[in-house]
Order: sequence, then C-alpha cells, then structure tokens
Amino acid sequence: MTLDQPPPEDPRPAPENLHVAVIMDGNGRWAANRGWPRLVGHRKGVERVRQLVEACPDLGIRYLTLYAFSTENWKRSTEEVLGLMSLLSRFIKAEAKRLKKEGVRLRFIGDRTRLEPKLQRLMGWIEAQTASNARLFLTVAVNYGGRDEITRAMRQVAQRVSRGEIAPEAVTDAVVTEHLDTAFLPDPDLVVRSSGETRVSNFLLWQAAYSEYIFTPVLWPDFTPETMRGIIGAFLQRERRFGGVKP
Ligand code: IPE
Ligand code: IPE
Ligand code: MG
Repeated sequence: MTLDQPPPEDPRPAPENLHVAVIMDGNGRWAANRGWPRLVGHRKGVERVRQLVEACPDLGIRYLTLYAFSTENWKRSTEEVLGLMSLLSRFIKAEAKRLKKEGVRLRFIGDRTRLEPKLQRLMGWIEAQTASNARLFLTVAVNYGGRDEITRAMRQVAQRVSRGEIAPEAVTDAVVTEHLDTAFLPDPDLVVRSSGETRVSNFLLWQAAYSEYIFTPVLWPDFTPETMRGIIGAFLQRERRFGGVKP
C-alpha cells in the first residue's frame, strides 16, 4: 500500500441492532475501596447506566438489557435492598422525560409480584409511558433469576397443556421462548460482566445459549461508554459459528 492510496476499508459492517446484556457488578467493591458505604457505589452505578443508555445508538446497540437485582440479592442487608429499590424508583421518576424524548422503550423482566406495590405501579407506568418508542429497547431485570423465569414459564405451559390448549408434543423451543419474560426480545448477541467475576449468576440462562461472553475487570462504577466501545470492538472480532463450521 502506498501513501497516496486510501486505507483498505474495514470489511466488517459497523454494528447495528446489537442486543447487549450486562451484568453490572462491582459497585460494592468500588465503594469499599474508598472506605464508603456500598450504596455510594450503587448510586455511581446508576450514573453509568444513564451514560450508557445515551451512548447506545452511537455504539450500534438497539437492545440493552441490564441486570439490576437478582432473585438471590434478597440475601443482602435490608438497608442495601431498600437502597437499591429506592434507586430504581428514583431512576424511573428522574429519567421518564428523557427516555420519552430520546425514543427509549423501557421494560422490566423478573418476578415483580414480590416488589412493593408502589414500585410495581411505577414500573407499569413508565412501561406505558414509553410503549410507543422504538429507537432503543432498554430492559431492566429486577428480582430476576434465569431459573425462576424458566420455572414460571414451565408452570404456564403446564397449565395450558392441562387445559388442553397445547398438546405435549407441541411444546417446542419456540413455545418455551414465548412464555419467558423476554418473549419480546431477540436473544442477546453479547453478555458483558464487569468487576472481573467470570460467572453467569443466573442471568438469561435460556436466552444466552449462543451469546458471546466478555468479562472485564473494570468495576461497574468505572464503566464508561468508551469501555463498552472497546468491548464491542472485541466482540466484532469474534467468529460466531452457532454449531456450524467456518464457511
Ligand atoms: C452489583 O454490584 C450490583 C448489584 C448486584 C445490585 P455489587 O453490589 O454486587 O458489588 P460487589 O460485587 O459487591 O462489588
Ligand atoms: C449479579 O451480581 C447480579 C446483578 C448484577 C444484579 P452479584 O454480585 O449478585 O453476583 P454474585 O453473588 O457475585 O454471583
Ligand atoms: Mg457483586
């Protein structure tokens, strides 16, 4: 290549319509490293969510799914659990206008029946408020566990079978998928986990069957849109085969 020739074009298409799911981990450690209460880390983490949501269209992300509270997180102190729930309420109230204006459709997955009725109403309200948006599909997992989700779906399918609405032989992969909380979402292309932990912690067990996983040591309160840009760059280098062979 001589200097007067333009550089060869990157053969890979720019990403668009990606579904990225994120296990936002490391808030507690980030705060502890500074001698601060864990909730300070969670608060900083919410700021990072705001920034990431804003950057998604530019990063080629059309679907962003965030793990905010797991079915196992009830094991934490009452103070921390209440603090997390209150951060969620505050996020919904503070962001409603911006989400509407920026074309973000916000939805929740997980078993919300165990949450405070007031929070449940707020969740339903913001879902309705943003229902006609389609620029970015933001999904937040609250009281979510992959096993719990599959169990609830199985219960529903079993009820339909027992009522004679579906024959047992007609229960296919697609039928299971339709009964999950994520029925409205494509499978994630990429699952990201921050904080250096390399486990799934009950997140999207069914949906991530063929997702790529990228683990970063960055603690969630330090995770910027630029961190995500680097991760997406690494994802685009990967060759996804879905059980086939290289063409
Ligand atoms: C992730 O940060 C947020 C939630 C699980 C709610 P953590 O609170 O798990 O932070 P670490 O893992 O203790 O550092
Ligand atoms: C996973 O993080 C859940 C969320 C990010 C909401 P945890 O911190 O709860 O997971 P473990 O306990 O390290 O597996
Ligand atoms: Mg953690």
